[in-house]
Parts: sequence; C-alpha cells; structure tokens
Amino acid sequence: MPTIVFVSPKGGVGKTTAALLLASELARAAKVTAIDADPNHPIQAWSKGAVIPDNLSIVADADEDNIIDKIEEAAAQTPFVIVDLEGTAAKIVLLAVSQADLVVIPTQGSQLDAEQASRAIRVVKQQEKMTGRATPYGVLLTRTSPIIRTRTMGHIQTGLIEAGVPVFKTQLNEREAFRAMFSFQRTLETLDPQDVPNLDKAVANAEEFAAEVIERLRQGRGEKGKKAKVA
Ligand SMILES: Nc1ncnc2c1ncn2[C@@H]1O[C@H](COP(=O)(O)OP(=O)(O)OP(=O)(O)O)[C@@H](O)[C@H]1O
Ligand SMILES: [Mg+2]
Repeated sequence: MPTIVFVSPKGGVGKTTAALLLASELARAAKVTAIDADPNHPIQAWSKGAVIPDNLSIVADADEDNIIDKIEEAAAQTPFVIVDLEGTAAKIVLLAVSQADLVVIPTQGSQLDAEQASRAIRVVKQQEKMTGRATPYGVLLTRTSPIIRTRTMGHIQTGLIEAGVPVFKTQLNEREAFRAMFSFQRTLETLDPQDVPNLDKAVANAEEFAAEVIERLRQGRGEKGKKAKVA
C-alpha cells in the first residue's frame, strides 16, 4: 500500500501543509494514516481541535527507533500512509525514505531553496545506493503566486527539469486557505467560505495535487523496486 514521505532538510517550506492537504484529500475516498514524525507534532496538534475525517488516522509516536515499524503497521491497516518529517537531514529521514513509494520534496521558489531540494534528492539517491532499489520522487513547488509566474521561479523550474529532476506539474499556490486549515483546525472542505478568501481555488489546487500524486504512484509502481541507476 503506498507510502508517501514528505522530505526537505529546510524548515518551513510547506511539508506539513502539503502532507495534511494530501492526507485529507485522499481521506475523502480511502483510509489514510498520517504519521506525524515531527517532534513538534503539528498534524497531531491540528487534529486535537479538528473534526477529522473518519477515514483519517493520525499516529504521532514515531521516532528514529520505530519509524520503519510504524510505517509497516500503518501500511497493513490503511491503503495510504503519509509521513510528515521535521526539516532536518537526520537518520529518521533516510529510514522513512527507505519505506517510501513516493518521496515529495516541497520547495519554495528561490535559488537557496532549490539547493536545499538538491540535498533532499541526495538523500533519496543515497538510499537507492544503500538498497539498490529505485525510489520515485518529485519536487513540489510551494507557496507560488497563483497570479504571476516569477522569473526566479521559472528559472528554478527549468533548471530542475534540465537536470533531469522530476518536478510536479501542480504547484501549491500561496493561499490563505492553506494557513486557515491550521488556524481553524479544519480540513479545507469544512472551512467556511465566509471566513476564507478563494477557498474554491484552494480546494481545486489541493485536488489537482492529490490527483497528480495518484498518477505518479501508478507510474512509480513499475519503477519502485527496480534496480537503481546508480550515477
Ligand atoms: N501554500 C501555502 N500557502 C500559504 N501558506 C503556506 C503554504 N505552505 C505553507 N504555508 C505556511 O508556511 C509556514 C510553514 O509551512 P509548513 O509548516 O507546512 O512547513 P514545513 O516545511 O512543514 O516546516 P517545518 O520544517 O518547520 O516542519 C506555515 O505558517 C504555513 O501555514
Ligand atoms: Mg512541518
């Protein structure tokens, strides 16, 4: 059953936001476990006051010593497992990546952020070398302007694509609704459009992201487990 792991050595790039969006989108149709492996437990904190979807379970007692077991247990129980990690390059990241069917690397649109994304990609490649198996991954551009495509963003995107890095077609835009999920402790769908501007656009953006994740998981099914092309 697919495990999707959100990774970035840099803090604050939108991992938890993207992970929770994906978890709640998928939970509309299937059972999902979100493993909140960040010691600050932002997803658990969100869930405390939230009416969480019946299909969504949250596990918040994962650490470096048990992360592989926690992922295995969750994968035996629900069709989707989503892992949110803190922004570090600690061993837990490598362990979680070793269990992933898809690694999502959220990145904001600056050169410095792109360099941090390269560090995350190196973790994926390191894991491939250790296990000899390929792990599908993709860079997700986050907090992008829904209105203008900045030159820097365009440059970074082209640079990544030219370097052969898989980049999600969907970008997560900068949206008040994505912050409001945490402040109102709700899923996007249960937020009140009176409280949040452009909620419909945020929902469409989240749905597009979830659909692309499913598409990549389908493509990756053949890829995962194949012998890694070690550069
Ligand atoms: N697409 C977005 N639109 C608006 N705000 C966003 C978006 N993505 C993230 N944010 C805001 O940016 C901040 C950092 O986001 P988030 O907590 O998701 O990042 P993170 O990578 O999980 O951080 P950490 O490494 O600390 O765990 C939060 O205040 C969040 O609400
Ligand atoms: Mg986080």
